[in-house]
Amino acid sequence: MPAQRTFDLVIAANRLPVDRVVAPDGTSEWHRSPGGLVTAMDSVMRGREGAWVGWAGETGPAPEPFEESGMWLHPVPLSEEERETHYEGFSNDTLWPIYHDVIVPAHFHREWWQAYERVNQRFAEAVAEVAAPGAKVWIHDYQLQLVPALVRALRPDVRIGWFNHIPFPPVELFAQLPWRRQILEGLLGADYLGFQRTPDAQNFLRACRQLDGRTTKGDTVATADPDGRTRQVRASAVPISVDVNGLEELAKTEAVQRRAEQIRASLGNPEVVMLGVDRLDYTKGIRHRLKAYEELLADGTVSSPAVTLVQVATPSRERVEAYKQLRTVIETTVGRINGTYSAIGAPAVHYLHRSYPREEMAALFQAADIMLVTPLRDGMNLVAKEYVTCRHDEGGALVLSEFTGAWHELKQAYVCNPHDIEGLKQVMLRVMSLDDRERRRSMRALRRRVGDNDVQKWADTFLANLEMAPERPPRPTPKGA
Ligand code: ADP
Ligand code: F6P
Repeated sequence: MPAQRTFDLVIAANRLPVDRVVAPDGTSEWHRSPGGLVTAMDSVMRGREGAWVGWAGETGPAPEPFEESGMWLHPVPLSEEERETHYEGFSNDTLWPIYHDVIVPAHFHREWWQAYERVNQRFAEAVAEVAAPGAKVWIHDYQLQLVPALVRALRPDVRIGWFNHIPFPPVELFAQLPWRRQILEGLLGADYLGFQRTPDAQNFLRACRQLDGRTTKGDTVATADPDGRTRQVRASAVPISVDVNGLEELAKTEAVQRRAEQIRASLGNPEVVMLGVDRLDYTKGIRHRLKAYEELLADGTVSSPAVTLVQVATPSRERVEAYKQLRTVIETTVGRINGTYSAIGAPAVHYLHRSYPREEMAALFQAADIMLVTPLRDGMNLVAKEYVTCRHDEGGALVLSEFTGAWHELKQAYVCNPHDIEGLKQVMLRVMSLDDRERRRSMRALRRRVGDNDVQKWADTFLANLEMAPERPPRPTPKGA
């Protein structure tokens, strides 16, 4: 048997950067996985030698580990039942709603929790297998919150960091979880915990104090390992970002600029193109932005096709009930708006329910006069930063919800509260009527902010914080030794 390859940097995330999609005839293809985590970590890992432990998106036995663009991909298997209980159930129907302000109700099932424990154990074993002595292990997101302590138990020699891509909930919501103490203890197996915003880190520290009776000091919390030795775990904010250079370079290519013009032409060269790009998720406020647009059309304040909305809604978690319901609501609303306000050959809403290559996304960003980012709650929202990055022409305007992590950095955007439909309509109208100089001023300021903190800087800061995390105090020397 060939020797197991080991690495000094190991990352673990629920998904690998690519998903294996098996066709009915048994042939399989690898597709890029959805979501911001993959967008960010894919650019971070290119150019660094390391292993990525994750699920390949299909159930049954996992493919053999393989190399892809210089990364070692180590697939972890999930059974069909675990896909339902660990991934769709506990991760996306228990934790996801609790961590996003309970926009839809969370469901609690003991079998889901048991599957979550079992899958977290499997991930920890895979990490322990590929980590070199003293390696840095970087665990990601809410699906793997028990992995830090499980890895520590298997491999006390490695440095363990965890980063949460989504918000960490206020203690009153987190307290609803019947397994809240186990989750806190799982996370405290890490040396360093990173969050999108300082309030997320503070929510975590407060939960440790109020629900687990722990002592915190500044941004650290005290914990004890199974051997009785105490450790300090640091929890602080490191806001994630995008690959500014790579994306800007792509957006500047002639092919992307030509495609942006083609997109506008095929929309009929409207006066204003508004754009939304989101996973089809109830946290993203897609329903709210459609409502605001529909009311503007109904008021006669704007008309179609002069003002056209393009909504890209990426398929996501399609077997979870809340997502099925959301899809029905969104598609019914789009149908109603188009039925009422479109002319032949010129829909008011162009609704696109599929994934696109990066080039097409960059062209869409360039084609849009107004980017609508209206989540009810979002850890960061990379789409907002991608839009700004692609606007090297300083054109376009960003409407940004105050409930995104991005808004805490991008205060020069046109802020909105998506729950306030009247307010959202006013912001849309205001942005449409801005003069060019004012719009450019805002975009220039946004571009400076995003340029100051790109994804490589984010990763370097996270890894430096992990490096500097307090060491465990040495074992006391036995008397007489
Ligand atoms: P989340 O992680 O919740 O999905 P983010 O906005 O942080 O939200 O990240 C979404 C990422 O997925 C971005 O990089 C965005 O460009 C990408 N994306 C979203 N929709 C599509 C799509 N239809 N095709 C390709 N990429 C997409
Ligand atoms: O960051 C939020 C997140 O859940 C990521 O973990 C994931 O990459 C993305 O959204 C997409 O979700 P899913 O992996 O469930 O398709």
